[in-house]
This record gives sequence, structure tokens and C-alpha cells, in this order.
Amino acid sequence: MLAHLLHLNGIESVVLELRDQDYVVQRVRAGVLEQGTMDTLREAGVGERMDRQGAIHEGIELRYDRAAHRIDFADLCGRAIMVYGQQEVVKDLIERRQADGLPLLFEVDDVKVDPDTAKVTFTQDGERQELDARAIAGCDGFHGVCRDAVPDGVLTERTREYPFGWLGILAEVAPSTHELIYASHERGFALHSLRSPQLSRLYLQVDPHDDIENWPDERIWEELHTRFEKPGWTLEEGPIVEKGITPMRSFLVEPMQHGRLYLAGDAAHIVPPTGAKGLNLAVADVRVLAEALTRWLHDHDESGLDAYSDTCLKRVWRVQHFSWWMTSMLHRFPDEDDIQRRLQRAELDYVTSSRAAATMLAENYTGMPYG
Ligand code: DHB
Repeated sequence: MLAHLLHLNGIESVVLELRDQDYVVQRVRAGVLEQGTMDTLREAGVGERMDRQGAIHEGIELRYDRAAHRIDFADLCGRAIMVYGQQEVVKDLIERRQADGLPLLFEVDDVKVDPDTAKVTFTQDGERQELDARAIAGCDGFHGVCRDAVPDGVLTERTREYPFGWLGILAEVAPSTHELIYASHERGFALHSLRSPQLSRLYLQVDPHDDIENWPDERIWEELHTRFEKPGWTLEEGPIVEKGITPMRSFLVEPMQHGRLYLAGDAAHIVPPTGAKGLNLAVADVRVLAEALTRWLHDHDESGLDAYSDTCLKRVWRVQHFSWWMTSMLHRFPDEDDIQRRLQRAELDYVTSSRAAATMLAENYTGMPYG
């Protein structure tokens, strides 16, 4: 996304990717684009397939005590979300990059970055290559090399591990719902999401150390039926074509920059998945970065780059709070006492009965407008 935004502003870049192209476009990730993300894709001319194949959603359902409560985004804040798989966005961006004939190198190995000189070295097809850049964008994820290239003592890291993970499945069955369902149940959280009229995406809260081998398909469906149970509503089953368990954490570094290295997306921050903010936060980062780099390279104005971290971190902390809040309201905690359980219930009752509280959820879920 960053490379494309820079290209639109006449700035050259080279994209380095560790994996091969098939891996990148097939890896199943989240599927909710907030309003600002859809707008960004459209404005950059890469939203055409999203608009054809994605689905606009104007609300979600919160389900607990076997009852449904709708949060109406359109009514509460006049905004919406788009259900469109993250890997579809990645596919569209790769296609555009390749159609433009611009450098996007797959299966690049042993990348070394120097934040002081903005020099990048890497291996491709067994040969060592060197790039003499003006700036480096570390968009290489939580396990990438860029964050570790910052000298010790510069970054302050903050991490919180949650005592649960999500077991996610992709099933070849028409979704049993038109809108996403976030369910809070005695046995734990469950989420019914969708990908297309024939493809459903569902999640279950599980122990983060659990092994997917312990979850044969029948057990997954049984647990989903239990947690989504509501009179008069049926969860349809279908063949499970993908499944895996992901741990959950909140993580971030401050600042998000050092020298000529600028971290963006998961390289700088991870949010728990409740609320589907990961990709959206990454897009918000690179919007800021693209504009700041453009002002520097075109107008010799460094103020945007100097402020990059501070500008991004305001949104990052807002989203950290929202993702933590959604997570805490909807999951079972192993050590929770009766008071915590009743507090969760009070929060759910408030969000589903007060217009003010529901608006707080709606404006955060659809994404706060860009500042
Ligand atoms: C999806 C993932 C999320 O984390 C979420 O909150 C909603 C939807 C998804 O994969 O569709």
C-alpha cells in the first residue's frame, strides 16, 4: 500500500518480501476494512474489485444470554465497514504493482537494514544485493528484521499476553448470518464472520497453548453451536477448509522511528483481533508515512517525518484501547471472579441499551476519521 501511495506521488520504492507470491495471497487473515481503509483503497485506484466483490455492512450483532442485540453503525455514526479478505487486498495491490512494472521482489532472504544510512542489503537467487535508499519503511510484521535493527535502548516495548487464543476456521458453507456476530458465552467467546455468499469464517476462544490436533471438525462445530445458541436460529455446517490457533497479545514500541527507519503496521504494534483492527491500523500508518515522505522528498519539509511516530501513536493507543475493551468485554478470563463476570455483563447491557455507549463502539469499529 505504501509503495503504491508513494508511486502515485512520483516517489520510487523497492518492495522486499521474504515469502513467495502464492504464499502471500493465500494466507488467510482478517476480513474487515474500516471506512477509512476502503476510502484509501478507492482514492488510490485499487478499490475496484473490493467494490464489486466485497460486502458493505452497516452493523454487527452482539449476542449473549441467547439474545441478539444489533449495533447499527449507519444510524449511530453514518459510517460502515467492508467485508473483504485481507489477502484479497494484498492480491489487488500486488497485481497493480506488477501491472505498473514496479519492483516487488519475492523470496528475498537475509535482509539487513541500517537505520543511519538507509542502506539495505539482501540475498536474491543466491546473490547479495545492495540498495542505497533515502529512507526505509519497516513494514515487515511482528517477526520482521527492521525493529531489531534499532539499537538497544532506543525503543520502549510494551507487551501484554492474553490467557486465550482464537481458533479460526474457514468453512465452505453459506454464512448463517448477514452481519458479523460477536458472541459472549459461559464457555467463551465466539465470532461468526463471512467472506462470500459461499464461505464462512468463524472463531472460537480457546486456550492459547491448545493444539489444533485436539480440535477435530465435529468438536469445533459442536462448540460453535453451543456458543451461538439462540432460539429460532441455526448455524449451518460445511466442510472446513482451513483451521488454526492464534495467540493474542497487545504490543507496541515507542517511538516508531529511528534515524531513517520508519516502522509501520505489525512491526510496530499488535492488537488483539477482537474488532479486526490490525490491517486497518497498518493502512493508517502508511497513509501518514506516504504523506510525510512526499513532503520531505518534494518540498524538503521534514516536519511530517519528525512527527511520524507521535502522529501514528495517537491512533495506535486509541485502537489499542478499543481492541482491549472489546476483548475484555467478550472473553472469559481463566481467573475471573464473579464480580468481573457481572461487570462484563453490565458493560454488555450498557452498550446494547445506551445510544451513547453504542455510538462509542460504532465509531471505533468503523474507524475514527483520519485526523
Ligand atoms: C474477522 C476477524 C476479526 O478479528 C474480527 O473482529 C472480525 C472479523 C474476520 O476474519 O472476518
